[in-house]
Amino acid sequence: MRTNVLMVCLGNICRSPLAEGILKSKVDPERVFVDSAGTAGYHINNPPDPRSIEVAKKYGVDIAEQRCRQFNIQDFDLFDVIYAMDKENYYNIIKLSSSAADRSKVHLLLGEIDGSANEVPDPYYGGVEGFEHVFQMIANACEQIAKRL
Ligand code: 4NP
Repeated sequence: MRTNVLMVCLGNICRSPLAEGILKSKVDPERVFVDSAGTAGYHINNPPDPRSIEVAKKYGVDIAEQRCRQFNIQDFDLFDVIYAMDKENYYNIIKLSSSAADRSKVHLLLGEIDGSANEVPDPYYGGVEGFEHVFQMIANACEQIAKRL
């Protein structure tokens, strides 16, 4: 059976597009479907931030064709696992849930590394080094996820 995994951040232009692209690069697309979305709707239909596109390209991951979409309640039915990049997004997803089954699908991405409640920081207002930093954190978590899927 195919597992459907959704990566969620605020804008769906910096962190979750990286998470989508990185996890896709580590799994068999026949077995795992990966998508991403933002809890906010500021950037709908936009491509990822150029800094995310650049850092992904540096590590051989092409995310340039992705387009932003907003998280919606249907995603609880479509996806088996929903990873939030930080606590704010985690709680905003939980607020939209309507059952314990919905809520059981939602996790913090970095919890996959060590069970911690660590967050992937928002790199939007910083420099390119922030994008390098979040790339490494996300890649670490996706390595663990890919091993278990
Ligand atoms: P993301 O980063 O949630 O990682 O995509 C952000 C992108 C845009 C904004 C905030 C965070 N914004 O305020 O437009």
